[in-house]
Formats: sequence, structure tokens, C-alpha cells
Amino acid sequence: MRTYATSTSLHKVLFSRNAWLPEGGLDCPCKVNAPYGSMSVSAIFHEVPLTQERAGLRQQAREILESHRKSQSTVTVLSCLLALEDHLGWLPEEAIDEAARFNNVSTNDVWAVASFYTNFRLSPPPAHTIEVCWGPTCHIKGAMAVLAHIQDALHLNSEGDTADGGVTLKYNTCLGACAQAPVVMADHHLMGPASPQEAAELVRRLVGLAGD
Ligand code: FES
Repeated sequence: MRTYATSTSLHKVLFSRNAWLPEGGLDCPCKVNAPYGSMSVSAIFHEVPLTQERAGLRQQAREILESHRKSQSTVTVLSCLLALEDHLGWLPEEAIDEAARFNNVSTNDVWAVASFYTNFRLSPPPAHTIEVCWGPTCHIKGAMAVLAHIQDALHLNSEGDTADGGVTLKYNTCLGACAQAPVVMADHHLMGPASPQEAAELVRRLVGLAGD
């Protein structure tokens, strides 16, 4: 098991113990090697279990990064992570390692950026994804009732993965189909206007399929 400091856990500790905040506040870890002052960093290291090396992932990550370099005038740790997540659907350990090598920074530096942004997935995505729009139009048209039924069907209280890891639920602020509000997207298929009952039924079918 490898151990990394996560900026998320770092922030949690800092914000709960104001006395630890360095003078001038806390710099965003996007700035690699951001100064964290003289606080005891070892006290806030957080163990994160990471998956084993998987054949092909490292080579795939290298190719993605090379292609990213050719298509972008400015390459940063964050832009590399976005490119990797776009292509792989998540950030495996191999991708983190390769992003570090590519940017000539430490793995810990890259991990700090990846863990700061909650939109990055650090585990493989489930087989099915449900997105519920709760943007203004969908909200007015009853998105919250749709969301409540879907959460009940998935036994979730918020965004995230189901207990069996088969389905992930995401919120979206506009799926670009306001005329069909309220809108739900299941595995990239749009459904709308969706009644709470129809949406829940769709989810139940997905949950049934999740283990297939
Ligand atoms: S607000 Fe829901 S699709 Fe636009």
C-alpha cells in the first residue's frame, strides 16, 4: 500500500483547526509545491489504498499525455489530469504516476491536485451512470421529486455510487434539454419529461442489470 497526503483531508483538518492555518491562508494545491507553512504535515497524512498495476494502463496514460502535449499550447498538472480522466473515465494510480513523470513533479504533488477536485474519480466508474438535472428549469418542473424517487430506488441520500458499486448517481445543473424538463440521463440516454415514477422504474431496471 502506498501512502499519499491528500489536500482534501489537509483542508478538512485546517478548516477545523484554525490555529494551524499558515500566515496568509492556505494556497490552492493546484500550485504545485504550494507552501503549507510550518504545520505538522505528518499529522494529517491520510492512507489511501490504491489498486494494483493493470496491464496497459500505464502505456495508455503515456499515449494520452503525449497526445495532450501535441494538442495544447500550455500543459499543467491539472490539464493532464483532465485529459486522463476524459479518456480513461477515472484516474488510476498508473495515470497519477505518469502525470507526475510527465510534469517532472512528485507523485504526491499530482495526488494533491487530483484529490482536491471532487469531480476526479479515483476509483473505476460503475457500469451505469444516472444523471439527474436539478437546474432552474428542471427544478421548477419537479426535478426534486424525480431526484427523491431515484435516490429511494438506489438507497442513496446524495450523489455517489450504490453499495454494490453498480450504479453512480450524479447531479447536473443543465443537461441542455430544458424544453424536456425535468430531465434524467441514464448511460447517456436522455429521458424527459420524466415523472418520478418513470425515473424510479428506469433506475430499478438499471440496478437489475448492474450485475449482468
Ligand atoms: S435545467 Fe435541466 S436540462 Fe436545462
